[in-house]
Amino acid sequence: MATKVVSGSDHPQGDGAQPVDAGRRRFLTISTAVVGAVGVAGASVPFIKSWMPSAQAKLAGAPVSVDISALAPGQQLVVKWRGQPVFVSHRSKAMLEALPGMNALVADPSSQNADQQPTYAQNEFRSIKPEFLVLIGVCTHLGCAPDFLPEVKPQVFDADWKGGYFCPCHKSRYDLSGRVYKSQPAPSNLPVPPYRFDNDNTLVIGLDPEGSA
Ligand code: FES
Repeated sequence: MATKVVSGSDHPQGDGAQPVDAGRRRFLTISTAVVGAVGVAGASVPFIKSWMPSAQAKLAGAPVSVDISALAPGQQLVVKWRGQPVFVSHRSKAMLEALPGMNALVADPSSQNADQQPTYAQNEFRSIKPEFLVLIGVCTHLGCAPDFLPEVKPQVFDADWKGGYFCPCHKSRYDLSGRVYKSQPAPSNLPVPPYRFDNDNTLVIGLDPEGSA
């Protein structure tokens, strides 16, 4: 049963003391406490966000470590970095030996377009270690994901396919170094992101090798 109390300070509208329902008083007290708690919680969120690595920060480019110990020659794995797929492939000896033979077919055989790789990957293999290739897996035409077709065997789109990447959207072809063939819709080679090796089994995408510019 509600208890009537008299309190000027409790009155919402005037100077005169008026009876106030005790239940309402409790409600006001609790409401104030809840609002206070929400205020504290609201104030603490920016602080917590400031030291917790957010999804946004990860999207903005936090480095990604990749265990390549089980990646056999001829295989590729795909990891996400900055919201994009990154292809990490392990090229076999035969694949590497076939690459010079592709120079006449590709548009930028010696990776002269400096925007498409860091300087430490601006070499004949477009990589730090010849056997491991790291590429942003986004077609340089309109952004589709190219298929990894490493085997040398006839394909419906190329009877003389020598292995590489094929973009199904508008049929751009790339070799096993991500170099685009001549006269394709795609204008440039697949980009090489910054990366380095922390040890023989660990690749870090998003960090340059120590000591590199
Ligand atoms: S998006 Fe790859 S060829 Fe057009």
